[in-house]
Amino acid sequence: MKGRWDLKRLVFNLSSLVELGQEVTSSKGINEKMKTTLHVVTGMFSVPRAALLVYNSTRSSLEVLTYKGIRGMDGTRVYIKAKHIKTFKKNEPCSINEIKNNSFYEDNHDAFKRLQTKTFIPLFAKDEFVGAISLGNRLSRKSYLQSERDALKVIANQMSIALHNSNLFKKLTNKVTENKRLYENMRRIYHDTIQAFAAAIDAKDVYTKNHSYRVARYAVAIARELGWGEKDVEGIYVAGLLHDIGKIILDRGVINKGEELTIMEITEIRKHPQISYDILSKIKFPWKDVVDFVRHHHERVDGKGYPDSLMEADLSDGVKILALADAFDAMTTDRPYRRKLHLLEALREVRKCLGTQFDGRISRVFFRVLQKEIKGEVREAQIIPHLDKDFDPTIITTLLEGITAELSA
Ligand SMILES: [Fe+2]
Repeated sequence: MKGRWDLKRLVFNLSSLVELGQEVTSSKGINEKMKTTLHVVTGMFSVPRAALLVYNSTRSSLEVLTYKGIRGMDGTRVYIKAKHIKTFKKNEPCSINEIKNNSFYEDNHDAFKRLQTKTFIPLFAKDEFVGAISLGNRLSRKSYLQSERDALKVIANQMSIALHNSNLFKKLTNKVTENKRLYENMRRIYHDTIQAFAAAIDAKDVYTKNHSYRVARYAVAIARELGWGEKDVEGIYVAGLLHDIGKIILDRGVINKGEELTIMEITEIRKHPQISYDILSKIKFPWKDVVDFVRHHHERVDGKGYPDSLMEADLSDGVKILALADAFDAMTTDRPYRRKLHLLEALREVRKCLGTQFDGRISRVFFRVLQKEIKGEVREAQIIPHLDKDFDPTIITTLLEGITAELSA
C-alpha cells in the first residue's frame, strides 16, 4: 500500500503549505525617533548629558539605545531585578540620591558613573517596564521645579508608549521573519514532493522516463513566450509535473503493453486525466487552474479529446499548452507501440494536426520559441536540450519559418 501512503503524504504536505501566509510590515525607525526626543529633552532642561535605555527582559538589564554628550556608551548595561522595578514610580523622575542606598545602585555603580546619571526616570507603558531615561547634571539649576517634573513626566509617557509600540513591532517583525522562513521551507518541501511524485509517475511507465519533467519544461517555454507572469508559469510547470499522476493507480501491465490495446484497456488508460484530477483537486494549490490543466491535457480543439470532449472555445491557454507539450514529447520519445519520430517529422505532425488536435495560436508560439532556442536567442533553453541532437538546425529553421509564414498568411 506504499503508493496510497505516498499519496496521503503528498496531499498532506501540499495542503499544509497553503495554511501559511506572508505578512509584510515596514520599519518605523524607533532609534531616530528616540534620538530626536532625547535631544529635545536635553535642550529643554539644559542637560548636556543624557541617555535612553531600553529594558531587555531576557537579560534583566537596561541597554543604551541612544545618548548625548557622553562617550563610550556602547555595550553599557544597567542590571535590574524585578524587585527593583516594583519600587519605581511610573514615569516619575527620581534623583540618583534617592536610590544610592539600595542594591540596584550598588550593582551598577560603574555604569551610572559612565552615564553620569543624576536623574533617573523609569519608563512604563501602562504596567510594563520598557526602559529608562538617564539625565546628567543641569547647566542651570540642580533640581527640577514641579512644572518641569510634570513636563518630564509627559515626555516620559510619550517615550514609553513609543518604546512599547516598537517592542510590539519588533515581536511582530520577528514573527513575520519566522513565518517567512517557515513558508520558504514549506515551499521547498512542496517542490521536492512534487518532483518526487513526478519521478514516481514516470518510473511506473518504463517508456516515458522523465516524460513529466520534459512536458513541464516545454509548457514553461511556451507559457513564457506567451508572456505569462512567473507565478502562472510556476503553475503550469507543476501541472506538467503532475498531469499523469492518475497513472499511479492504473495497471502497470496495461501502461507498458507493447502490442495493440483492447478497447477495455484503452478505456482504462483514458481514465487517467480524471483520476489525476480527483487526486489533485483535494489540494488547495497556490496556483490557479492547475487541476483544470491536468484534467484536460488530452482534450483536442476539435472536441474529439477526453474526458470531457471540450471544444476549442472551452479550452484555456494552459490546457492547450499542456496538450501540445504532452503530445510533442510523446512524438519525440519511444512508445511501446512505435518508435519515436525525428524532430522534422514531429514538427510536420504538429502542423498537420493544427485546428484538429492542436490550437493554431499556441502552436505558432511553440514554433517561435523553438526557433529562438535553435538560434540561441533565449537565456535558458527548455526544449532543445531534451531532444535528440541528430537534426540539422538549418533544415529545422527553414521548416519552422515556412510554417510560421504559412500560419500568418
Ligand atoms: Fe496523459
